[in-house]
Amino acid sequence: MDMRISVIGCGYLGAVHAACMAELGHEVVGLDVDEAKIAKLSQGIAPFIEQGLPELLEKHVASGRLRFTTNPAEISEAQIHFIGVGTPQQQGRLGADMTYVNQAVATIIEHANPPQADKPVLVAGKSTVPVGTAEAIAADLAASGKDIILAWNPEFLREGYAVQDTLTPDRIVYGLPEDHAVGDVAKALLDECYATPLAAGTPLVVANYPTAELVKVAANSFLATKISFINAMAELCDATGGDVTRLAEAIGYDDRIGHKFLGAGIGFGGGCLPKDIRAFMARAGELGVDQALTFLREVDTINLRRRDHAINLAEEAVGGRLVGKKIAVLGITFKPDTDDLRDSPALDIASRLWARGAELAIVDPAAGHILRERRPDLTVPETVEEALDGADVVMLLTPWKEYTQLDPAEILPLVDTPNIIDGRNVLNPQQWADAGWTYYGMGRGVATW
Ligand code: UDX
Repeated sequence: MDMRISVIGCGYLGAVHAACMAELGHEVVGLDVDEAKIAKLSQGIAPFIEQGLPELLEKHVASGRLRFTTNPAEISEAQIHFIGVGTPQQQGRLGADMTYVNQAVATIIEHANPPQADKPVLVAGKSTVPVGTAEAIAADLAASGKDIILAWNPEFLREGYAVQDTLTPDRIVYGLPEDHAVGDVAKALLDECYATPLAAGTPLVVANYPTAELVKVAANSFLATKISFINAMAELCDATGGDVTRLAEAIGYDDRIGHKFLGAGIGFGGGCLPKDIRAFMARAGELGVDQALTFLREVDTINLRRRDHAINLAEEAVGGRLVGKKIAVLGITFKPDTDDLRDSPALDIASRLWARGAELAIVDPAAGHILRERRPDLTVPETVEEALDGADVVMLLTPWKEYTQLDPAEILPLVDTPNIIDGRNVLNPQQWADAGWTYYGMGRGVATW
């Protein structure tokens, strides 16, 4: 216990990982190039919304067990260097941008203390990377002459539950070097680092580098496929008068299928699923096995088609032309319990409605202020009531509790025309219809059962 750890990159992944490693009893330094972010973290303030993170930051920054810096020299003493930087989609291409990972490796090579006989040093990659990256990084580390070991240790945290997912993960994966003598050293260091969750019985899967890298993208591809599958069924339901929510409920009782990730609606977004499936396809192409992943192109296409469908529904609701129509957009983040706007289906839909001449009023409990800063062209009132005022259509795009619990009868007098588009299939159609609204679901037909 009580290892010295560095975490390179303090975004959604790194900041949470750093705080959780401190909670597990380690002495942690988080490194990032973003001065503003580090200034906040150093005061124990979370730079983004994440349940449980403020408490951990406050506790461990105060105790001195957790510190943050922009000075790479401060990572030198660490025995494990975690790489938690972003791998965003390259501009205009499917593949991942590896700039930050490469910079992180260069920083470690330059600043990490070389290992000593009784004190090996490990780099543990957590970022989602194209398969083959670990092998290349291991070669760079070997070439540096510092004899630092590499393991790949992918992260499966969900935003909104990131602290819980890191402290009590549903599995831990180690990708270890082929040389077992070296691999055993890496494993021992990671076992020490994760002693608490391992002692609690968390399943551990040990594999080689490519397997560990693939586990992450395979998991995200599977989740994306599940969502696009149910969204494809939603299209069938729309064409036939079926109700995709009943369909999902019914197939989900088969525990080989399960109920999770069968929520049809405007589709998946966020900083991971969309870019990960695209980077995976790009990498498969480079490896000459693109056919193995052609289905992911369809998964992506089905997903993007949901956004078109939501726009079509808005058009239908206003009787054709969107110009000058007032649309209240409830929720703009890619999912609730986060302020993350990366690849948000809601933001994409809203932007496209705006471009077609609709007058938007957007509210979001977490990202309203961020949107106001980033998109001064959009109207972002403070309250739901202001957004609903005089609306021709109301679109629920992110299922925040405060919006899913709205009373349709109570808010009816606020709007001009009572049209509700339920972009996440979370409202009770009958209840809204009974209150006088025209209800549009995503694949719920006109079912009365
Ligand atoms: C995801 C993975 O779940 C996580 O394991 C990985 O580490 C990172 O990527 P996250 O991006 O936080 O996590 O979001 P997630 O909860 O998976 O949701 C992704 C998107 O799918 C959201 O836009 C969500 O609204 C959408 N979604 C989810 C659906 O449209 N339907 C569903 O049934 C579930």
